[in-house]
Amino acid sequence: MKYTIEQIYAYAKRYGFVYQGSEIYGGLANTWDYGPLGVSLKNNIKNFWWKSFVSQNKMNVGLDSSILLNPKTWEATGHASGFKDPLMDCKSCKTRHRADSLISRASNNTVDADGWDYTKMYEYIIENKIKCPNCGGFDYTTIREFNLMFKTSQGVTTESNNEIYLRPETAQGIFLNFKNVLRTSRKKVPFGIGQIGKSFRNEITPGNFVFRTREFEQMELEFFCVPGTEIEWFEYWKKFANDFLVNIGLKPENIKFYDHPQEKLSFYSNATTDVLYNFPWGFDELWGIASRTDYDLKRHQEYSGENLEYLDPNTNESYIPYVIEPSLGVERLFLAVLLDALEEEELENQETRTLLKINKHLAPYQINILPLVKKYHNEEALKIYDLLSSSFVAFYDDAGNIGRRYRRADAIGTPYCITIDDETLSNATVTVRERDSMEQVRISVSLLKDYLRNLFE
Ligand code: GAP
Repeated sequence: MKYTIEQIYAYAKRYGFVYQGSEIYGGLANTWDYGPLGVSLKNNIKNFWWKSFVSQNKMNVGLDSSILLNPKTWEATGHASGFKDPLMDCKSCKTRHRADSLISRASNNTVDADGWDYTKMYEYIIENKIKCPNCGGFDYTTIREFNLMFKTSQGVTTESNNEIYLRPETAQGIFLNFKNVLRTSRKKVPFGIGQIGKSFRNEITPGNFVFRTREFEQMELEFFCVPGTEIEWFEYWKKFANDFLVNIGLKPENIKFYDHPQEKLSFYSNATTDVLYNFPWGFDELWGIASRTDYDLKRHQEYSGENLEYLDPNTNESYIPYVIEPSLGVERLFLAVLLDALEEEELENQETRTLLKINKHLAPYQINILPLVKKYHNEEALKIYDLLSSSFVAFYDDAGNIGRRYRRADAIGTPYCITIDDETLSNATVTVRERDSMEQVRISVSLLKDYLRNLFE
């Protein structure tokens, strides 16, 4: 079943995955807070990425650089002058729009205004009488440039020389530390540096729940390679990304790759692909993979005056490495994981159950501990909770009838439910119920920990 974005939000809110940000004050538009299950799922997604790209990947190492960077960084990269969207206001309802989005939306994505100059975009909108999607009016301001970087000031005064930006991508912290990591990690090209962290963009049109927000997290790898080998590595990371998404549990039919045509590539890139996911509104960008040549390191070398060349120990030649960058948004993957795993399943007794058929390594809780009847089985169940809670993420649930407790566990994706009943008291065994098949097996308490360990291996 395919869910709408409203349905997935209702589900996420109901079970405590995601809440509207600042809700008690009427909310702050397009901000989201992650509740008990959401933070757990998000952390599990990040751990999954970190293991694949960093801790269990012998080519790569990790980094956690600051959100606030020396403002020269953004001059060097071109973000200070070029990280802009074309902004138009509707004078009737005062909503703001990206001119290029108005065009692609009105033309059902048949016209791509990316790369057009502002005059051409404005004339197209006027000639084609493209109406405001909010109020249906046709009374716009002209197009203005809108820099997407969030500005703030450092220190106690607000003079312009204290002005700094919240980073719009985590990538630049990696480039700034290229030499530090090279010196201290004993890595040789080819190698990568991975980082997970918050990024901020003052998006003109955020929306679609957590898909496009102004504050989000990125999982980025900058992979440094010998110039001339970059297309080989680009293909390598494309395949790696696809395998990662399938391993995490997304259905292959919901994943597509869109290779940017040569004439549409950014000036610094010689190959770029978007990994698309089948969101409720259609296939849209989940992950960007770009071959960025030596652009970033070269610009930082130029603007900082630091030598950022790599001395190849084999050839004794110095060069600036080329870079492949797979860059993935945590929240976009979070949304894709929920959409992909959520099901309404019809049971044999004609009832339906909500089932989050999520990869068991992502599940917010690994096990549920359930005393069959609280009055009789609580004491034994608490002992089993104590036995298992140091090894597994466990939820203790003694409220309501057992059928309803199973349903709730299914709805939030808990892979195994352990039920403590009369037999537990008489012969020290429990039942272990598997989420998807609903099959139950009886296991001796003395073997339970190892049994579960095997299931999670
Ligand atoms: N360093 C390259 C870079 O930042 P990008 O295509 O602008 O490239 C990479 O962003 C990924 O970050 C996107 O594919 C998406 O998953 C995520 N992302 C970007 N902007 C976002 C936003 N406003 N809200 C949520 N995720 C976003």
